[in-house]
Amino acid sequence: MKYSVVVPTLNERGNIVRLLEAIEAALPGDYEVIVVDEHSPDGTLEVVREYAQTHPRVRGESNPGVRGLSPSIVHGFNLAAGEILCCMDGDLQHDAKDLAGLLRTAEEHDFVVGSRYVEGGGFAEKWNPCRVLVSRTATFLAHWLLGVQVRDPMSGFFAIRREAYLSVRERLNPRGFKIMLELLWLLKQTPGNWRVTEYGITFGLRHYGRSKLSGRVIWQYLTMLYTLRRQRQP
Ligand code: GDD
Ligand code: MN
Repeated sequence: MKYSVVVPTLNERGNIVRLLEAIEAALPGDYEVIVVDEHSPDGTLEVVREYAQTHPRVRGESNPGVRGLSPSIVHGFNLAAGEILCCMDGDLQHDAKDLAGLLRTAEEHDFVVGSRYVEGGGFAEKWNPCRVLVSRTATFLAHWLLGVQVRDPMSGFFAIRREAYLSVRERLNPRGFKIMLELLWLLKQTPGNWRVTEYGITFGLRHYGRSKLSGRVIWQYLTMLYTLRRQRQP
């Protein structure tokens, strides 16, 4: 299997089928999609499983472990069979057309960050000043405390080669939203000539439902930064 696309969901019933259709239209051949749902009360998982009956590349799973976006993605990656593991949001804010480009870039790399801040990337709507401030501060902290080089360390849209994932998996302690940053950081601490790059993506509008980014998620991010920073190799 070439590609595994993992999609975390929490109450995305109104978005998920459109996303699955868009992925199917954007990707040729050899791939699987694993939706990892957080026991969504709106019945997201049931909708996915019904879709999967006629679309064998798709499967719906339930997050069995600690609640959260990052643990769900790790669960999905652990089930995945692909050579390249990729993660995208289930609310249509990540574009399936960008997915195809991201995966193409992953042919030549070990880690590809879907980035809003490089050429070809951007936002479909203007964010409110509060969200801009939160995002910029979070990005600044990642650069400052962890020294990661990428322009968009906050992204939730990325691809990682299986081998790179396996080399850091044992050290993961996923919590909150920022699994991409944790993987990137751990890989940076792992010997190897890892080829990391960014690929421009457009962060779209949420059409249905609402964001689950909360004060708790922000707190989880700050504690994660603290823990990762303490693990830094001299
Ligand atoms: N399984 C699972 N468990 N899925 C979750 C959970 C959870 O606890 N919380 C959220 N999700 C799913 C949502 O259903 C959606 O598919 C995706 O994860 C992203 O969640 P949103 O609530 O839409 O987050 P956002 O749009 O505010 O944040 C996104 O953009 C940020 C960039 O500004 C995410 O991609 C972030 O990772 C990213 O940093
Ligand atoms: Mn979203």
